[in-house]
Amino acid sequence: MKTIVLYTTRHGSTEVIAKNIASKLNADVCNIQKKPIPNLREYEAIIIGAPIYLGSINPKMTALIEKNTSTLLTKKLGLFLVCLMDEELAADQFNAAYGNELLSHSTADGFFGGKMPENMLNPIEKIITHVAFRHKPIHEDILTTEVEKFIEIFKA
Ligand SMILES: Cc1cc2nc3c(=O)[nH]c(=O)nc-3n(C[C@H](O)[C@H](O)[C@H](O)COP(=O)(O)O)c2cc1C
Repeated sequence: MKTIVLYTTRHGSTEVIAKNIASKLNADVCNIQKKPIPNLREYEAIIIGAPIYLGSINPKMTALIEKNTSTLLTKKLGLFLVCLMDEELAADQFNAAYGNELLSHSTADGFFGGKMPENMLNPIEKIITHVAFRHKPIHEDILTTEVEKFIEIFKA
């Protein structure tokens, strides 16, 4: 099945996950911030993954989803989110990012935790994250078993 993984990233953790999923599914992979978006009609299966920054995914990904919703709804679809917030907060962010229409169509969904290496953050990001995560349950690591489960469900 011809598959592509479309993703965005700022600090690289989503890229590692996207490339891992693509290699296990023998899929193409595209960072839509850096490369032109391929013709999605050529693919039978599409996986979309993005990190959350201040409650939202990258506007380029939101625009891609809005522009291609009708095409995406004809494909085998996988959706994943990379984010530090845990439990219900992660689920809320997931629903807000992808919306009910795509979520009810998707074959596999996952939120995979995240990474926030201090040395990669700029001074403003350090202040924002210090304030934003002070009282929230967060999961600062990639949930590799969730990634593996997502791949198995998608393959089935
Ligand atoms: C400035 C900043 C804002 C963030 N905002 C959120 C947020 O609102 N919710 C969340 O769950 N994670 C948030 N995160 C955590 C990122 O989603 C996490 O670090 C993720 O692994 C980044 O992915 P990337 O390395 O692919 O860019 C934030 C991180 C930074 C640095």
